[in-house]
Amino acid sequence: MSGAIVVQHAQTLKKINDLITGETDATRAMEGVVRTLEGTFPDYSWVGIYLLHGNELVLGPFIGKPSPHTRIPVGRGICGAAAAEKATIIVDDVNADSRYLACSTDTRSEIVVPIMLDGKILGEIDIDSDRPAAFGAEDRDLLERVAALLAPKLPTSANREP
Ligand code: SME
Repeated sequence: MSGAIVVQHAQTLKKINDLITGETDATRAMEGVVRTLEGTFPDYSWVGIYLLHGNELVLGPFIGKPSPHTRIPVGRGICGAAAAEKATIIVDDVNADSRYLACSTDTRSEIVVPIMLDGKILGEIDIDSDRPAAFGAEDRDLLERVAALLAPKLPTSANREP
């Protein structure tokens, strides 16, 4: 990992931490995260957050082209697979992955990072890139830390409107 990337990621993490510390409104916290990530990394072409409602992931704040996939059952698509596995998934070539649910024909690669608290999925950060293999270990590390910061701000599934 290059020194410049390490510094940029540390700065981004600090910015997001400052932004959401003391934020009690979940939507505003999610919007701040989405805006900061999309505005910082040119390769992040579509940035969104899904929240788990029952057995479905429901699209919350996002920046990018409107997605047809506003509700994704756990187990479907790359988003649903990450929720089922409770693990980050990086796909270098979405067109070579049979699980992939297309949002834009420009998308080439994707990362999905679960947002978890006490071992339970609350939602996930989903990022698409128009560049193949745009996501590496440093993105995973940054986004997993962002997910950990965001988790306490989100309502648990039981406290959500249906
Ligand atoms: N590609 C995702 C669906 C969400 S859109 O990219 C916004 C998937 O395969 O689950």
